[in-house]
Amino acid sequence: MAVNLLLGLQWGDEGKGKIVDVLTKDYDIIARFQGGPNAGHTLEFDGIKHVLHTIPSGIFHPNAINLVGNGVVIDPVIFKRELENLEKYNVDYKTKLLISRKAHLILPTHRILDAASEASKGKAKIGSTLKGIGPTYMDKTGRNGIRVGDLELNDWKERYRNLADKHEAMIDFYDAKIEYNLKELEDEFFAAVEMLKSLTFIDSEEYLYRAQKDGKKILAEGAQGSLLDIDFGTYPFVTSSNTTAAGACTGLGVAPNQIKEVFGIFKAYTTRVGSGPFPTELFDEVGETMGRVGHEFGATTGRRRRCGWLDLVALKYAVQVNGVTQLMMMKGDVLSGFKKLKVCTGYEYQGQTINHLPYNIEPENITPIYTEMKGWKEDLTKMTDSSQFPKELNDYIAFLEKELETPITIVSVGPDRKQTIHR
Ligand code: GDP
Ligand code: IMO
Ligand code: MG
Repeated sequence: MAVNLLLGLQWGDEGKGKIVDVLTKDYDIIARFQGGPNAGHTLEFDGIKHVLHTIPSGIFHPNAINLVGNGVVIDPVIFKRELENLEKYNVDYKTKLLISRKAHLILPTHRILDAASEASKGKAKIGSTLKGIGPTYMDKTGRNGIRVGDLELNDWKERYRNLADKHEAMIDFYDAKIEYNLKELEDEFFAAVEMLKSLTFIDSEEYLYRAQKDGKKILAEGAQGSLLDIDFGTYPFVTSSNTTAAGACTGLGVAPNQIKEVFGIFKAYTTRVGSGPFPTELFDEVGETMGRVGHEFGATTGRRRRCGWLDLVALKYAVQVNGVTQLMMMKGDVLSGFKKLKVCTGYEYQGQTINHLPYNIEPENITPIYTEMKGWKEDLTKMTDSSQFPKELNDYIAFLEKELETPITIVSVGPDRKQTIHR
């Protein structure tokens, strides 16, 4: 049986959480494969909004198993808080939530290192969520990390101490004058580890292999977005994991030839939180309106998201790198009432017109080339079928499908589970 992937195609916050929740009824297993609590995945149903950071977005469905894969980095403190939030809703996470033994742990000192590194960069800072993501993946690739499975061994606290001591020396090196009380942070950390240990740890690659053999349906849930990918994103303004399709293979142990559908999800416009290039960013009233109507504030940090027109050059690149087979367009409702819509179809770059993402995309060397389209004025949020769509929205969708050579099979018209239209 096949594994399907769902990935963000922009700079994150495309609406992955919402769509995973919508699709979960058709799957047996939902598996997160990379990232950590830098993610904020929002889902809404029955008038309640939930934000998940590490826990997969299928957790509210009674029958699906939710797996935190080996490619994910887990902060036990944040994880514990997420579990406590679920208790209010009687979610049976003891049986429905499984954790890979090979997932790495974010230690309190990883968070401090993240802050110290950012502080030392001054204006060149990445705009990290400061959840310790970069330093934890550095320890993973540096072969120093502590993994979930280590918590079942006797010597892990000794290894923890050695690593934390080394981190303290590194924090001093940054000379960033960050104040912290390690003892307090560690008390909180060790208490959270105890809670984590009450969950089920598994060899998840083996589990997923068996599940595939047994004909189970698996959906891999991405975090962040393709333009934040450590290799293919706008480096160095990226996150520290592979957010693109290949990340699902390494982050779950799923073989590439088992992947069937790749669902690529994008907003009808573009947003970015944190620093880094963003060619179609708007600094005017239009961008301000997108942010206000779309409530564009980070689900993890509350920071204001930068807004701009849809960038088809970047989107095409993401479709290409991921091998997207179906597209899902989110937040079309936010564009209602805009008289004109612009879509970037090329860049003016070093005196030439190009339609691929160049190596060096600093804002000063790129001018977007726009195609203008007529906007729609109708409120989409109450629509339940694509036959109700205004002509201008159909034209917008048809234009994107043609440019991206990929069908748009879901159009989302609001944050609620029900505001989802299949085409
Ligand atoms: P994720 O990180 O990709 O899961 O996305 P986030 O949850 O960070 O951000 C998406 C935001 O848009 C959340 O507040 C969602 O509730 C909201 N949202 C999702 N789909 C739609 C939609 O179609 N229309 C509107 N207006 N909001 C949406
Ligand atoms: P979801 O899964 C949007 C951004 C940060 C920063 C950069 C590096 O909700 O789409 P990090 O904390 O990884 O060191 O930050 O990446 N970033 C996100 N932006 N959505 C996310 O996740 C993000 N996770 C990280 O703002 O620019
Ligand atoms: Mg988010």
